[in-house]
Amino acid sequence: MSKLFSPLTLNLSEKQQTTVRNRLIMPPMCMYSADSEGPRVGLPNPFHLEHYGVRATSVGQVVVEATGIRPDGRISPQCLCVSEDTRPEDFAPLATAIKEKGALAGIQLNHAGPKASELVASPRISPDSLSTSEISELVATWGHAAKLMAEAGFDFVQVHSAHGYLLHSFLSPYTNHRTDEYGGMLENRARFVLQVLAEVGRYLPVAVRFSGTDWLGEDGLEIAEVEYVAQWAQALGVHQISMSTGGIAPDASAIPVGPGYQVFAARQVRAAMDSMILPVHDLITDEVLEQRWNQTSEDDESAWRDYCAKVSAVGIILNGVQAESILATGAADLIEVGRPLLANPYLGFKWQAELGEEVELPRQYRRAVIV
Ligand code: FNR
Repeated sequence: MSKLFSPLTLNLSEKQQTTVRNRLIMPPMCMYSADSEGPRVGLPNPFHLEHYGVRATSVGQVVVEATGIRPDGRISPQCLCVSEDTRPEDFAPLATAIKEKGALAGIQLNHAGPKASELVASPRISPDSLSTSEISELVATWGHAAKLMAEAGFDFVQVHSAHGYLLHSFLSPYTNHRTDEYGGMLENRARFVLQVLAEVGRYLPVAVRFSGTDWLGEDGLEIAEVEYVAQWAQALGVHQISMSTGGIAPDASAIPVGPGYQVFAARQVRAAMDSMILPVHDLITDEVLEQRWNQTSEDDESAWRDYCAKVSAVGIILNGVQAESILATGAADLIEVGRPLLANPYLGFKWQAELGEEVELPRQYRRAVIV
């Protein structure tokens, strides 16, 4: 049996384990299909239920598109978001549509910050514009949105800390010019995202997406720094890390876009997860460590590997054979497949057939022909 289509047990939190049916993930992809104003602003509608429900059929996990933690955090006016009037019942049918098909239901929570739509955010917020009390308010707002998603029935939240949005803009030296405890050295640039991860984790299991590089050389965030941030995130209880790249600078150097071009970022972070030596950060207190370390014996490396955060690779992964080889070389634990899954909602079945395995189709489609 392939690795790709064998089940994987995830340690969602200290108390909660779950097994996903395979190692394929549908990554978050904005669909620009919610109402931009009126009583249902930012809420999932029948399009979203069908779109995510059908794609949940052949993957192990679905991560719903970037959802603003508040209306001014939307990437576009048609993005999903949480507003003051949003109730858990508004998002519950979406969580159900995914879980009914046997996939784990995640949702990406975001504040678009410097890249928010001008139509929803004026002025836009950025590292340079926020006071420390506004940062604390945002951390609490992330928590509020996460609590709502927990009550709606989602299995986990993925915190968006990639692609130039607010949390990534704090992480990157390219966009963060602060001189207080949120700027300067990496420990400080990482403070905001780590506070958000801890806050979200109070309500439900937490995952995160990072850009592994800004493709700006030493003017921007580089993978060596992201490895540290990922280790801190893991110490705070993050159970899955999605490794994307870029998105912060339109003038980034030529990006070598091609099959598997971002896999290096997953490989590096996955190797960092294995390390039992944790870099120092004042948010990773003895209390936090004790809670995490108690789960496994310090000298049992294989138990540690089972226990540590799982890392996913994403970006131009185009077929089952390529995906399987990424897993087989140990570069990642999980594979995300975006645009190919937009074109073929049942892509998982096709990739499984490509790998020569027997495919168990849903009852209604037993007679389908996989091409
Ligand atoms: C995206 N992507 C994306 N990423 C993210 O973190 N949050 C988001 O909401 C979106 N939205 C989005 C919309 C659309 C239409 C596309 C095509 C992409 C990036 C996406 O998750 C993925 O990382 C990339 O598409 C690369 O993977 P593939 O498509 O090459 O498998």
